[in-house]
This record gives sequence, C-alpha cells and structure tokens, in this order.
Amino acid sequence: MTTQLTKLLETEVAKRRTFAIISHPDAGKTTLTEKLLLFGGAIRLAGTVKGRKASKHATSDWMEIEKQRGISVTSSVMQFDYEGHRVNILDTPGHQDFSEDTYRTLTAADSAVMLIDVAKGVETQTKKLFQVCRLRGIPIFTFINKLDREGRDPFELLEELEEVLGIRSYPMNWPIGSGKQFCGVYDRGKSQLELYQGDDHKDIQVRKVDGVDDPLVKQIAGEFLHKQLSQDIELLDVAGDPFDMEKVLKGELTPVFFGSAVNNFGVQTFLENFLQLAPKPEPRNSTAGVIEPTKEKFSGYVFKIQANMNPAHRDRVAFLRIVSGKFERGMSVKHVRIGKDIKLAQPQQFLAQDRDIVETAFPGDIIGLFDPGIFRIGDSLSEGEEIVFDELPTFSPELFSKVSIKNALKQKQFLKGIDQLTEEGMIQVFTTFGFEDMILGVVGQLQFEVLEHRMRSEYGVDILLQRQNYQFARWIVDEKIDPGKFRINSQLVKDKKGNYVGLFESEYALRSSIEKNPTAKFLTSAP
Ligand code: G4P
Repeated sequence: MTTQLTKLLETEVAKRRTFAIISHPDAGKTTLTEKLLLFGGAIRLAGTVKGRKASKHATSDWMEIEKQRGISVTSSVMQFDYEGHRVNILDTPGHQDFSEDTYRTLTAADSAVMLIDVAKGVETQTKKLFQVCRLRGIPIFTFINKLDREGRDPFELLEELEEVLGIRSYPMNWPIGSGKQFCGVYDRGKSQLELYQGDDHKDIQVRKVDGVDDPLVKQIAGEFLHKQLSQDIELLDVAGDPFDMEKVLKGELTPVFFGSAVNNFGVQTFLENFLQLAPKPEPRNSTAGVIEPTKEKFSGYVFKIQANMNPAHRDRVAFLRIVSGKFERGMSVKHVRIGKDIKLAQPQQFLAQDRDIVETAFPGDIIGLFDPGIFRIGDSLSEGEEIVFDELPTFSPELFSKVSIKNALKQKQFLKGIDQLTEEGMIQVFTTFGFEDMILGVVGQLQFEVLEHRMRSEYGVDILLQRQNYQFARWIVDEKIDPGKFRINSQLVKDKKGNYVGLFESEYALRSSIEKNPTAKFLTSAP
C-alpha cells in the first residue's frame, strides 16, 4: 500500500536536482551560478555571489582566514526553485582554495555541470574534478562559455573532450559565428534560432525555423555564417554521436550547450534542458543494501565539515546529504557510528550567503547541522536503523609537508589538533618508518595555511611545516613489500590505518617503482 508519506516523497524527490559545477578558475563559474540563481529568484541583484569573491565581508561571519584572503574557503550550497523544480547547487571552490572538500562535495551531487572557456578548452582543474565524477559514473552536462569572445573551433573542443577526458559528446545547440560575429545558437532538437543580443537580456529572442536551410537562417546569419552552420550541422548529423539518454545517465555521453554566461545568453535554455535531462536524487549504497530516496525512514551522510562559521562560538557545521525519508526539525536520529540518538535541533539550509533554519527537507537536499564535535566525514545518520553508507573515498594528495611543533611542551594539544583535523578530513597524515616523522598530505596549498591558522587559534599550537618534494602518493598493496628495499627518489610511509603509501617525487620515480614491483598494486585512493 502506498502511504501518504511515500506519495509525498515521490513528489518531492521527482522535483529535485542536486548538482555541482566543475571548472577551472576563471571559466565563469561564479557568473553562471549567479545567473542561475537569478532565474530562480533566489537573489535579486547580480553581484551577490560575486561579492563573496571580493573582500567585502560586512555580513559574513566566516572564518578569519577567509576574510583575510577574500575568498570562500569551503564549498557552500545554494538552493532555488525554478518551474516546479527545486535545485541544489553545490559550489566547488577553485584556485588556491582547492581542497579535498572540493572532491568530497562531488560525492553529494547526482550530476555535474562542466563549464569550459571556449578559448581555453579543458584545463587542469576541470580534468581533476572530471575524474572524480567519472569514478562515480554521474551524468555530466557541458556548458561552453564566453562565445562572445574569439575562441577555439567547436569541433576541436569536442575532440578535446574525447581525447583528454574520454567522454563523447552531443551538442544540443551549435554556435553561429563567434566573438564579434557571434549571432546566436541553432537549437538542434527544437530547430530554432536563439539570437544573441549582446547584453544581459533575460528574455531570449527565438525564431522557429524549418531546419538550418530555412531562408530565415540565411537572412539572419548572412551568407558566410549560414554556409558554415549548414556544413557543421550536416557533419554532426552524419558523423556525430546520436543522442542516447542511457549513455548520458551513465556519464558516457555529455550533452553540450554553447553560451555566454556574463551576457545571460544560453543560460536559460541550458537550465531548462538540464532540469529535464538530469537525474533526480539517486539511491546510495550502504551496509543495509541500496537505500532508495523514497524509503520512508530518514537517512543521510556527512560529506563535509566546516569549522568556525561563526568564530564567536567554536562551532562547526556538518553538511549532511539527505538520502531517504523526510527530515523534520527537531527530529531524533541515530548517529550510527557512536550508537546514540541525537536531536537535530538547529538545522540550516543555504541560500546564497544567508543561512536559514530549515523546517523540513527531502532527499537530495543538503542541510547544515550544528556540530559540537561529534561528527566525522562519512558519518551516517538514520531514523533508528543500522545503516552505514559507503565510505567516502580518500583522494590522493599532491602537496606534502613534514610537520613539527615549535614548543615541545605542547605535544598533547598538537596531537589532539592533528587528530581532529584529520578526522574532519582537512589533511591526511602519514608516518615515516624509523623516525616516525609525520608527513601531511593535501590537494591544495590553502589547506596548509588553514591548518597553521587553526592549530594556532583553536589548539594554541604553533607548527612548523617543511615542504617536501613529493608530487604523488599511491597506496601500495603487496603481500611481500619490504620497506627497506623501496626505490630511491621515493619514500614509503604508513597512513593512519597502517596501509603502505609510496610518496614519489616525479612521474618517473612513480613509473619506475611500478615497473620494479610487478606484483604490487599502486592505488590512487586508500584500499
Ligand atoms: P570563476 O568563478 O570560474 O573563477 O569565474 P568568474 O565567474 O569570476 O568569471 C571570470 C571572468 O570571466 C570574469 O571577468 C567574468 O566577468 C568573465 N566572464 C564570465 N562569463 C563570461 C562570458 O560569457 N563572456 C565573457 N567575455 N566573459 C565572461 P573578470 O574581468 O575577471 O571579472 P569582472 O571584472 O567581470 O568582475
């Protein structure tokens, strides 16, 4: 029998889309996010999201270092409604503030939007983030941005998607000219032109046409651009991949859209198509099997912990992705790892910069839980059941520092701090053989800076960080590994669980170690 709650869950789940935007800094992620929020009416003024990047922090109570640098240290969540859908955007920070949080956020998304600068193509950070999405097999939608500027040939960009990322593509629309000559896009599915007007127009001018060879296309695009468009579309129809929804959902084919975020061109078309094609909140694996979002009992997992959102109190916020059931403020749930019931009293939801108290929430939503120090990354919460969701992956660090304390008398606080911050997932700790030195690994430089800052302000410990030359870490699984005989240029260490990890100074050192140890497996994340 279908209960009322099941019906409600079905409706709420069907409405929701939870995604992250992946891109390299400067591709236009802030701009695109802002335009999307504007469509949803979540913000009234352009510049609201952008303000976070600048050093205006009048209303912000984020941690000190964030203010100093005028950036957002950790990713946040934004929610808005659009035409019957509830959209959750998970922000993934870029640049120096790139951190493991960035990767982990992707585990809470059901799909990703890959934003690419038309002049630059696939850049390093996009590549890294893409790999994480690929591992999870989530659908990826591509928005090629800045068509108002001179850029690379669109075919060349699609080839790059395939060669560099290994994903095939299906252009949903196709640009007519670029840069100064950019006059809009041709929508392949709807057979219509969307005309570029050059500035921030909310309403797009659309002209229905009968295929690319409709005289109206020639009239609007001019002889030269029309000829090019006609040839391009023919080539796509004949030699391109057909649209295949199954492949899209498996992350094997990416629907591609062209536009110009800053001019608000192509954003609405993108949003509307995305909402149609992107998956609703997906089930998650657990020790109790697959948990469907429409399961009546509430469950969820913590994917990120952010410290000191309000420095006046030493509080932390644990970000919970709801997997199943209905969340209600004040409900009691089981904290599975510690085996205790806890009351979720002050949950927060995120709307651009403001944090609001949330009364109810559904699968796919992210809520922020006040954390007096009881949560760890990956913790599962459930309505009375022994559900433990699959462990979140540990990502291979790329920057390493030896850590020690300036004042040896503070050893106890030092160990406590390192331990807690490791649990929070801010750093990874490795120990060398012999001297038992501590080496910390991170994926972004800012993690070290935040670590120094927090060790001082929260634990009263000054630390010394000595950068190490390693570039790669690999978990080594081998029955007969001999720590003494490991290749030079590299070091064998242990992680917190005692797994062997090789730290390598160069790709060459890594490769030769792999060759010299044919029986060993070299893994990019902990086994
Ligand atoms: P990010 O979050 O990915 O780092 O990128 P962001 O949105 O901040 O955009 C980076 C720059 O690219 C900004 O310019 C932004 O205005 C510009 N941009 C975004 N979309 C488009 C587009 O469609 N066309 C063009 N021509 N530019 C675009 P800026 O000069 O760094 O900042 P600002 O002075 O505009 O604030």
